[in-house]
Amino acid sequence: RIQPVILAGGTGSRLWPLSRELYPKQLLRLTDDTSLLQTTLSRTATIENALPPIIVVGEEHRFITRSQIDALGLFADYTILLESIGRNTAPAICGAVEYCRRNVGEDTIMLVMPADHIVTNIDAFQKAVQEAAELAAAGSLVTFGITPTHPETGYGYVERGTGTCVASFTEKPDLAVASEYLRSGNHFWNSGMFAFSLATFLEEMQSHGATILEYMEKAVSNGSEDGLFFRFNKDAMNHCPSDSIDYALMEKTSRAAVVVADLGWSDIGSWQALWQVLEKDEFGNVCQGDVLLEDTRNCLIRSENMLVAAVGMEDALIVQTDDAVLVAPLSRSQDVKKIVSKLKTQK
Ligand code: GDD
Ligand code: MG
Repeated sequence: RIQPVILAGGTGSRLWPLSRELYPKQLLRLTDDTSLLQTTLSRTATIENALPPIIVVGEEHRFITRSQIDALGLFADYTILLESIGRNTAPAICGAVEYCRRNVGEDTIMLVMPADHIVTNIDAFQKAVQEAAELAAAGSLVTFGITPTHPETGYGYVERGTGTCVASFTEKPDLAVASEYLRSGNHFWNSGMFAFSLATFLEEMQSHGATILEYMEKAVSNGSEDGLFFRFNKDAMNHCPSDSIDYALMEKTSRAAVVVADLGWSDIGSWQALWQVLEKDEFGNVCQGDVLLEDTRNCLIRSENMLVAAVGMEDALIVQTDDAVLVAPLSRSQDVKKIVSKLKTQK
């Protein structure tokens, strides 16, 4: 049986002013009427043999998470695990594994899915998951490889060895290295999804990240049921080191495998990435809300509650919300996070 676990913490600062600490990108309705969390949840429901999902979120997002799940009407039975503080993906996954070991069963295959990307090819997704589940049952930590299209430095890269074995895993390389990987033809983007048996994960984490595992075992054993939620123990989470699963485990393990799949995958990490996947008008513009354009091309313009008009613009990003307006070249979307850091230091 496959246990889907959805990671829905983090804030997605590059999608400011839409994403906020209280309203992170996975909960936003970015592409249509559903949020990325909801489309990820719906995807789990297409998997054969899948159990109802486990969702790991920050405690401040518990009610909105619940209402978004219930609005789907897909699951009668699901679990929300709450973090008092975000410690990145390694602790979040360790917590889910430990919870699962106690409450679901030791022989479960876990499928970890981030809540911040899009998959359009559902058939390929289902096939890849079944293949990954078999490799996971045989003792591998399985990654899902995406054929890279540009030397992205914000992703992890999986180098394929013989068969499905992974020769190396490199998280967020610099541009020179990423360019080299792109040319090699044998490196794939890590999609951020993982499949493994609980036993394999625990053995490998014991060897490479024992401290995080130890704290998260405590976070679960001293955790508490809280009505509709399960809370990890606060004290254990406070002491737990912060690290991503990519650095803490995937770069170190020698038991990684990769399933390369054409998932129609894209990471909605920036406004430009969002523009790329959305439907455009005949001039390449994405307009959301009350927007009026004249002689304008390849722009993303979004209005929340007033008319936004533009004349003679190209490659522009304009986002209007209740309390902030962002204007930038769309091609500089990555730098929006710098505004967020500035805002944080002003606070
Ligand atoms: N519950 C919880 N708690 N979830 C978290 C936390 C946390 O502390 N931190 C991050 N997440 C969730 C995010 O919401 C996201 O869905 C997922 O975990 C991945 O975290 P990101 O912070 O978005 O990671 P990344 O984009 O820098 O890198 C990862 O994803 C890339 C593909 O999108 C890595 O796995 C890369 O190797 C990969 O290429
Ligand atoms: Mg991400």
